[in-house]
Amino acid sequence: MTAKRKPDSPVHRGRPVIVDRYTPAARANHWLTATCLVLLALSGLALFHPSLYFLTSLFGGGQIARSIHPWIGVVLFVSFVGLFLRFWRANLWVPEDGTWLARLRDVLADHEDKLPEVGRYNAGQKIVFWAMSLLIVVLIGSGLAMWDQYFYDYSSIEQKRLAVLAHAVAAVAMICVWIVHLYAAIWVRGTIRAMTRGSVTGGWAWRHHRKWLRELVTGTRGNRRTGPTPAE
Ligand code: HEM
Repeated sequence: MTAKRKPDSPVHRGRPVIVDRYTPAARANHWLTATCLVLLALSGLALFHPSLYFLTSLFGGGQIARSIHPWIGVVLFVSFVGLFLRFWRANLWVPEDGTWLARLRDVLADHEDKLPEVGRYNAGQKIVFWAMSLLIVVLIGSGLAMWDQYFYDYSSIEQKRLAVLAHAVAAVAMICVWIVHLYAAIWVRGTIRAMTRGSVTGGWAWRHHRKWLRELVTGTRGNRRTGPTPAE
């Protein structure tokens, strides 16, 4: 005689297995950072070229856009430090990442099963993470050097000119990196819910981050037993 399974037992046909990926605090941290970046891009572009000046109307005029842009930058920086502290460890490069990158063609052709199993983040996500980290440091550093209202005396005219150039180049690069991040989040079906609901399906984790799922289920990380890896 076979035992009848209760409808709410963990293995219940027809209902997907759900895996926690982000805590509410991590998601709030992420969406604050994302909101700041959108506002910074809009207010920054508005000040960048006369043809984009019309964007200042979103902020109530040129003066307001100009005065709040650096403050939003400060909030973004502090918020990103929060993300950095949460995720830097999971974004450390491992040898399998080189293989993943070298065989990007297989990833794009949807043949991920031919590649080594991926941990919490793949090589592409890690590159985006470190590029964002570097660019945010350049943006805040050059931004402060240009913020004459408070820091006029801290840099020479030549340094300020260099800062303007570095700020513009880093901002364009940041927008490109952000577009890649956004595209990847939408392109890999089932990823957005990780940041909206905090969880993913077991199928998504098995397909894209199998090593992470194994560690989660077995409570192992590398050769060490560390207990289940919680959502971060
Ligand atoms: C508004 C557009 C954005 C969307 C739709 C979005 C979406 C997502 C999603 C779905 C994830 C989870 C990926 C996964 O767990 O595999 C994620 C992770 C992450 N996002 Fe975003 N994001 C956006 C903007 C940003 C911005 C502007 C930043 C930083 C400046 C950022 C930084 C991060 C970081 C650090 C992670 C953790 C993944 C990692 O460390 O590689 N996101 N995002």
